[in-house]
Amino acid sequence: MTSFFSKLKWTAAAVAAVLVAVLAQQALQQRMASTAANQPVTSVEERIKPVGTVAIAAIPKQTTPAPAAVTPAPAPAAGTGAPANTADAPASATPPVASASKVGETTYNGLCMGCHATGALQAPKFGDKAAWTPRIATGIESLYNSALKGKNSMPAKGGNPALSDADIKATVDYMVAAAK
Ligand code: HEC
Repeated sequence: MTSFFSKLKWTAAAVAAVLVAVLAQQALQQRMASTAANQPVTSVEERIKPVGTVAIAAIPKQTTPAPAAVTPAPAPAAGTGAPANTADAPASATPPVASASKVGETTYNGLCMGCHATGALQAPKFGDKAAWTPRIATGIESLYNSALKGKNSMPAKGGNPALSDADIKATVDYMVAAAK
């Protein structure tokens, strides 16, 4: 009996030990498996993904900004030139029309009216159709020429050589328009 139970105990103990060992081994293997299979993979993926994502995100951004910065640089240069030309075009296109009368009016008020407002030196009065009609009939180029180079008591450019031809012509246009 004793030996039987004794054997049984040992057997049970041995079985239990084996079971424990097996379970422990399985658990350990599962852990290792999960650790080796999951964690490493996860960590690797995480490490690779972040790096890859960052690298990809950084490269595209850097690549795009770089070209963008490079392109803008030339673009600004060309853009500056273009805008400048564009601005000049409108400036030279619009102002002539808008500033023509403005420059003409300003120039007239600042200089030409000295004689043309009162008819001094027999200058044709501003807005005097009777005085201007025969002169306008000679053609605008003739009037430009008289204003630019002078005519009798009419001094070249009204006596102010600093005025540009364009300003003088604009002023003639302004005076002629007022006399029509
Ligand atoms: C010092 C006085 C004086 C000033 C200043 C003066 N003019 Fe005259 N202007 C005259 C006289 C005088 C005439 C007439 C000349 C003539 O036909 O003998 C004249 C004539 C003109 C004519 C007609 C020319 C023609 O061929 O019939 C124009 C255009 C004219 N002036 C424009 C101007 C403008 C533009 C200014 C200002 C930038 C100006 N004048 C300033 C005295 C002046």
